[in-house]
Amino acid sequence: MARWLLQILIISSLHLISLSSQQETRFVYENFLDQENLYLDASAKVLPSGLLQLTNTSVNQIGHAFYKKPLELSSSFSTHFVCALVPKPGHEGGHGIAFLLSPSRDFSHAEATRYLGAFNASALESSPSSHVLAVELDTIWNPEFNDVINNHVGIDVNSPVSVGVASASYYSDSKGKNESMNLLSGKPIQVWVDYEGTVLNVSISPLKDQKPSRPLLSQHINLTQVFRNSSRLFVGFSASTGAAVSDQYIVGWSFSTDRGSLQQLDISRLVKVPHSAAPHKKLPTLVIILLLCLSFVVLYVLA
Ligand SMILES: *[C@@H]1O[C@H](CO)[C@@H](O)[C@H](O)[C@H]1NC(C)=O
Ligand SMILES: *[C@@H]1O[C@H](CO)[C@@H](O)[C@H](O)[C@H]1NC(C)=O
Ligand SMILES: *[C@@H]1O[C@H](CO)[C@@H](O)[C@H](O)[C@H]1NC(C)=O
Ligand SMILES: *[C@@H]1O[C@H](CO)[C@@H](O)[C@H](O)[C@H]1NC(C)=O
Ligand SMILES: *[C@@H]1O[C@H](CO)[C@@H](O)[C@H](O)[C@H]1NC(C)=O
Ligand SMILES: *[C@@H]1O[C@H](CO)[C@@H](O)[C@H](O)[C@H]1NC(C)=O
Repeated sequence: MARWLLQILIISSLHLISLSSQQETRFVYENFLDQENLYLDASAKVLPSGLLQLTNTSVNQIGHAFYKKPLELSSSFSTHFVCALVPKPGHEGGHGIAFLLSPSRDFSHAEATRYLGAFNASALESSPSSHVLAVELDTIWNPEFNDVINNHVGIDVNSPVSVGVASASYYSDSKGKNESMNLLSGKPIQVWVDYEGTVLNVSISPLKDQKPSRPLLSQHINLTQVFRNSSRLFVGFSASTGAAVSDQYIVGWSFSTDRGSLQQLDISRLVKVPHSAAPHKKLPTLVIILLLCLSFVVLYVLA
């Protein structure tokens, strides 16, 4: 019996060793109730439902959530996450969410509003002191940051001035064309970020759609150059509000340091995002039911 136990122990420890020698890290969050490997700061918190809330709808909030351990990133990585920006009824929604790669998880120097909790105004200077890669889902138009429109997706390297930017849209494989997407609809948004060689691709889509076959953004970036001598990087998220406010959530998150072994999120297992209170939404449903009843009565009378 003891020998049998010992054998299992040896086999499982060997298994651990072989995993760590490959230096591959993968994780999947279908909810965030297990916070052991999470580092949260400022307004970020896990709600009892399991949603990770980066900001609520108070003004000038900043929230960060990182995977607690730095990861060894080499030639590729991939991530698939689902987020939601739910504006406060009657208010302008904002500001947005960013996916971050950084050698440090200390973003206490970062500013809210248009800096998305990822940068501050001095990052606009010619030689930024911090090294950050951000993929932003930004809902406010700041032309000085190369924004094309309020509702956009951008890639930022060490600065809020985007190196790649596109209005929020996705290639619908079933329709064979681009469809625009409102980041502030309050509905969950799927996001994929894939890096291999020196190409970083970003795609978004609504929950009902698969990953688009064509990325929204495809940018030449050499992460070794961006991060110089640090190959151990923290991965996570940042979000901010200003005068424009939204409840900003991460609903699910899958990550792999090896692009080939990313596990896609199982959408059906994710927590439902609460909608902002909109009582009038019940009315159309009621009208539809009444109309249905009426047509049944008419059909019955005619028959
Ligand atoms: C947002 O959270 C802060 C504390 O984290 C709280 O003081 C504030 O009332 C919250 N705002 C809303 C709109 O819930
Ligand atoms: C801005 O952020 C950088 C790090 O990116 C930090 O060194 C600097 O002190 C910050 N500046 C201000 C004014 O907070
Ligand atoms: C990025 O997209 C291009 C164009 O679809 C594709 O050829 C390339 O393999 C993609 N690379 C990654 C890392 O996803
Ligand atoms: C669809 O969007 C992509 C990415 O923004 C763009 O490169 C492409 O030209 C668009 N295609 C059409 C048909 O508009
Ligand atoms: C990326 O940059 C590093 C450091 O400058 C360089 O050694 C490497 O060859 C570059 N990778 C590619 C694929 O160009
Ligand atoms: C290399 O890393 C050290 C320690 O983290 C840091 O102080 C230094 O600024 C880095 N050098 C470059 C060129 O980024």
